[in-house]
Amino acid sequence: METLSLAPFQGITDVVYRNVFKKHFDGIGKFYTPFFTGIQKDNSKSLRGEEISPDYNDVKTIVPQILSNTAEEIIRFANQCKSMGYAEFNLNMGCPFPRVANKTRGCGLMAVSTR
Ligand SMILES: Cc1cc2nc3c(=O)[nH]c(=O)nc-3n(C[C@H](O)[C@H](O)[C@H](O)COP(=O)(O)O)c2cc1C
Repeated sequence: METLSLAPFQGITDVVYRNVFKKHFDGIGKFYTPFFTGIQKDNSKSLRGEEISPDYNDVKTIVPQILSNTAEEIIRFANQCKSMGYAEFNLNMGCPFPRVANKTRGCGLMAVSTR
């Protein structure tokens, strides 16, 4: 069966939005989180809050997303997601905002791949 997914909107589809949505509506197979950034070390501060904690997120239906252009950071994020119980993570390759793209992240990754 096809899975219907909830797309992420930074600043809108946060943990409260997702949980309230899930409480009142049926039919979404996967909820993608808005992107996380700044995963500079293990046990990084940005992964310690309610936005990703398994205490507030259903690890079976939530897919955490990262915005990064660094292999080490992406692997670190993947490992931390795994240790929290998530089965999947998502790499943002589409964000078009100049502040993001100019730093070769989001849709800026595509420019890197053609160099
Ligand atoms: C304000 C804003 C924030 C967004 N944040 C994210 C994000 O964090 N991650 C992501 O993958 N897409 C993000 N998107 C893209 C949306 O999830 C969606 O894919 C895009 O708006 C196209 O959807 P539409 O075809 O229904 O308009 C964002 C879009 C907007 C307008």
